[in-house]
Amino acid sequence: MIKVTIDNIEVEVEEGSTILEAARKIGGKVVPPTMCYYSKLRDTGGKCRTCLVKVAKGSAKDPRPMPKLVVACSTPAQDGMVVENTLSQEVIEARKGVVEFLLTNHPLECPICDQAGECDLQDLSYGFGEGESRYEEERRRFGYNDIGPYIKINNERCILCYRCVYLSAQLTDKRLLGVLFRGDYAEISTYINAAVENDFSGNVIDVCPVGALTDRSSRFKSRVWFTKPYDAHRDCPKCAGKVVLWAKGDEVIRITARKDEFGEVEDFICNECRFEKKQVSDWVIDGPRHIKRQSVISLNHYETINKLKETPPKD
Ligand code: SF4
Ligand code: FES
Repeated sequence: MIKVTIDNIEVEVEEGSTILEAARKIGGKVVPPTMCYYSKLRDTGGKCRTCLVKVAKGSAKDPRPMPKLVVACSTPAQDGMVVENTLSQEVIEARKGVVEFLLTNHPLECPICDQAGECDLQDLSYGFGEGESRYEEERRRFGYNDIGPYIKINNERCILCYRCVYLSAQLTDKRLLGVLFRGDYAEISTYINAAVENDFSGNVIDVCPVGALTDRSSRFKSRVWFTKPYDAHRDCPKCAGKVVLWAKGDEVIRITARKDEFGEVEDFICNECRFEKKQVSDWVIDGPRHIKRQSVISLNHYETINKLKETPPKD
């Protein structure tokens, strides 16, 4: 085991752990935000730069500070390392710059975006964004892209974190999504614009940190803060069958996988559970979902009010 100090808090982690893993072990505000890293997917990280931190002391053996800010998600922690995240003004300034950069092409259409209220970029902008944009050039625009009946893609909103690409490569049995072109033209697409039909393809919706990939079956049905999340499960032959039902009154608006305090999916779920089982009677309700991360949803006091009732299936 090695000892690392982050924002004056010491923690012990296994050798080979990254700075981010050490920060997550401490938890709370010490954890740098992440827009591309996803612990459940291999090779993610190193793309968005939101997790930049300052290494004030390299290690016990070599105490020199690192000359530049480093990405917490891909930099190995060393024994005796001292890291600054929230305590470093340099980090705060750099993060503001990264947010501004991520927002250069991202349209500010939160009022009409289904992801609003649970969007990582929205949260990041509240924390580090400026009130005004300095960007004067025209934002990127893409043509209509149909990737099937379940998932809606809005390439304008994509921040090219590559999570959906890694998920498609690692979770489904054939690679579905990829990045076409490069630089300003880069866009997420199915290679031949074929419908994304694989049983686990819907998980790209949950890993997308912004509203670039959204659920067609619940599109524009409700703002997320008007819905109430319930843990539910069913005996599913394809996946763990553990989900969150997002209900408005007694109507199930949307079904997602369960996410942890870092916003990452606990168990990936199949498309049948996600898109086809929209009746309360399809599920065993475990109770209201406690949203562990800071979120507009957790302000709703939904945990103390009403219970979801079974409704007869609609014809
Ligand atoms: S569509 Fe979403 S998950 Fe995929 S690269 Fe873009 S932002 Fe990331
Ligand atoms: S989360 Fe570390 S670079 Fe994106």
